[in-house]
Amino acid sequence: MKNYSSSTTNIKSVYEYSNILSIEVAGIHLRNPLLLASGFLGISQEIFNRLHNDGLGAIVSKSISVSPLEGYKGPTVVSLGEKGYLNAIGLANPGSDAFANEIINNQTPLIVSIVGSSASEFPKLISKFDKLNILGYEINLSCPHVAKMGMEVGDDPELVIKIIKTIKSKTKKPIIIKVGIGNTDILKLATIIQESGADAITAINTIRAMAINVETGMPILSNKIGGLSGIPLKPIGVRCVYEISKKVTIPVIGCGGIFTWEDALEYILAGATAIELGSVIGYEGLKAFNQIKLGLIRYLEKKGYKNIKEIVGLAHQY
Ligand SMILES: Cc1cc2nc3c(=O)[nH]c(=O)nc-3n(C[C@H](O)[C@H](O)[C@H](O)COP(=O)(O)O)c2cc1C
Repeated sequence: MKNYSSSTTNIKSVYEYSNILSIEVAGIHLRNPLLLASGFLGISQEIFNRLHNDGLGAIVSKSISVSPLEGYKGPTVVSLGEKGYLNAIGLANPGSDAFANEIINNQTPLIVSIVGSSASEFPKLISKFDKLNILGYEINLSCPHVAKMGMEVGDDPELVIKIIKTIKSKTKKPIIIKVGIGNTDILKLATIIQESGADAITAINTIRAMAINVETGMPILSNKIGGLSGIPLKPIGVRCVYEISKKVTIPVIGCGGIFTWEDALEYILAGATAIELGSVIGYEGLKAFNQIKLGLIRYLEKKGYKNIKEIVGLAHQY
């Protein structure tokens, strides 16, 4: 494909005068469809302000639990060359009181990611955040199941239904459910998520994976198994977005291995209304957002589209 992002056009002027990337997801108006994925730079108001000034569509916070979590001991992250990461952070976060306090004066387009191991934890989380200036919630289903050892919340469809209905009864803000490749068929899960009243789905979270040090023979992560992110995830994420967006009518947000504007485009053509960027920040820094935005703008202009929503799911016609 042609490298549209190599144009010398002044990036700032393109953003200021163009609505070509503006889009709505689950009732949330976004100036562009690029979101920060949960777990990257996601707990400080100062950084949220910087990301907002840099022109992100929205920011998804680190997943926040009712009480603070320390997470696993190190090593918790392994870099896989230029391609991505294996991580086993163990949902380390400052807890809902500290995070609510951090964002008390928030003026940025912030989606709070929340996590709980049983349905009863979610009303407590909603009560902390619902009065604050946030766009909505992303629910991370990759959390250990409190009642079923070895399972994640997303592996138990009955619990997923209960969590969504509980949250919906406590908030009028949109809720986005983030799914991963677990033990439950992702399309079955997507159907249940829609039927339970969720407003959107994010696909996908990291995939369980492992690395071993060949000198010592030891697993590299202290938790042994971690989550794979980055470039290897992309074709799987694109497949999930394609299949989920064919199956349900609520919007799908694509996530996994988006490093370039062509990656972003693939997700959008597969059916994603917005996209989340994570691992790329570790390799390219925040300039990746502007490069991807400019590549998308150039592509849309060249093809004669007026707005990015015209190309969402275009691959479904074939
Ligand atoms: C270090 C690290 C921490 C993460 N923390 C979270 C988290 O708290 N909540 C969540 O839903 N996803 C978390 N993720 C998953 C990312 O949000 C994203 O789904 C995944 O990394 C795939 O996107 P990417 O390939 O662009 O990184 C984390 C990923 C990494 C690498």
